[in-house]
Amino acid sequence: MKPNIEISEINLKASALLLNTLLADEYLLYTKTRSAHWNVQGQNFIEMHNFFETQYDSLEVIIDNVAERVRALGHFALGSLKDFIDITRLIEHNNDFTDNKNILQTLLEDHESIVRFLRKDISLSDEKHRDLGTASFMTGLLEQHEKMSWMLRSHLS
Ligand SMILES: [Fe+2]
Repeated sequence: MKPNIEISEINLKASALLLNTLLADEYLLYTKTRSAHWNVQGQNFIEMHNFFETQYDSLEVIIDNVAERVRALGHFALGSLKDFIDITRLIEHNNDFTDNKNILQTLLEDHESIVRFLRKDISLSDEKHRDLGTASFMTGLLEQHEKMSWMLRSHLS
């Protein structure tokens, strides 16, 4: 049954596509952050190991909420790694995760990319798709990614 929430079917579909694309981005970043947690090394190992765990825990909650928002709009959430790789706006490459500065820089760039994608998608959701719920939901995520970016950036300054 389709939701009767004063958003046209075409706009619901457009919102679901934005959200599924975001879901793929979040999944890639989640995987990279887990890799950072596993592979980090050095004198401050425990601090960094735990720091990355805090970050991937936050991303895991975000991932679940994004997927469930797709369902709330009456569409299906993507659920395969192949789909995520096909649709993501982030780049999956073989990072040198033995170098802590490189780990932090890579994760920071991805968070900042997501912040920029969200800023554009919030405007689309609000002004074009008339989907205030998605615009508001994405605004909350924008703020979370800005905070996670600050945490990463602080390790680099
Ligand atoms: Fe662990």
